[in-house]
Amino acid sequence: MGDIIMARIKIGVLVSGGGSNLQAIMEACQSGSLSADVMFVGSDNPEAYGLERARKAAIPTFVTPYDLIKDRFKQNPDHIDLPSDFDLQDILVRQSLFPPDHPRSAVESFFKARVAAETHLLRHINSFSFDLLVLAGFMRIFSPYFIDRINVDKTKPRIMNIHPALLPSFPGVDGYSDTFEHGCKVGGCTVHFVDYGEDTGPIIGQKSFDILPDDTLDSVRSKGLEREWQLFPECIQLFSENRLVLDKSGKKTVVKIIPERL
Ligand code: GRF
Repeated sequence: MGDIIMARIKIGVLVSGGGSNLQAIMEACQSGSLSADVMFVGSDNPEAYGLERARKAAIPTFVTPYDLIKDRFKQNPDHIDLPSDFDLQDILVRQSLFPPDHPRSAVESFFKARVAAETHLLRHINSFSFDLLVLAGFMRIFSPYFIDRINVDKTKPRIMNIHPALLPSFPGVDGYSDTFEHGCKVGGCTVHFVDYGEDTGPIIGQKSFDILPDDTLDSVRSKGLEREWQLFPECIQLFSENRLVLDKSGKKTVVKIIPERL
């Protein structure tokens, strides 16, 4: 087992919407319960209120206009800004977002437009120094191209996401709604490292809550969000204490948490 290093880490946060998780993370950094500093906040959505929260805290922000980049690609597929180390064949082999029988041209177009946006994103991200990239309600899926450029050391993933369901149940965009519509009696949220699939990466932490007969979708969402605001800073703190280790000895790669040293 490696030594547990107590350090203050640098994190970058990406948001698409309200940014209540970002707020919880910033407050945990300020109160000292999280040994981290937020270096930047980026978004795919210029209207994201999360950007405003960051500005109020004097944290640098930027926007990568995914939709605009995608539209430009559609209009003129031959004039797209792709990096010189972009290897479409390699991405097609490694990706796990589309099944093998999905029309190839659609998959190719998806990854070309996606990598064009990610190149823009990487330019911004790499102008900061950071240890961990935190997805706090960032509603875009990354290509293997992007993930490999952040996870340079394959044994130490450094993209963390929060998902509004108890994975591996209900991956996708609206976990609380899927949980509620399914008639589940327990709901929850999950923090995981990001891999090439959609919400499939190794699980770091989860919190659950009961769904009672008089609960509504709204009350389920608020119960869930309240747990997210606790869970996310806790998981980032484990990362900052160097206590998250990938274990590849079983069927799936999982996260082992090194116990706290007393
Ligand atoms: C959260 O429910 C999160 O799990 C999901 O998107 C929502 C973001 O909320 N991925 P906020 O922007 O942090 O308020």
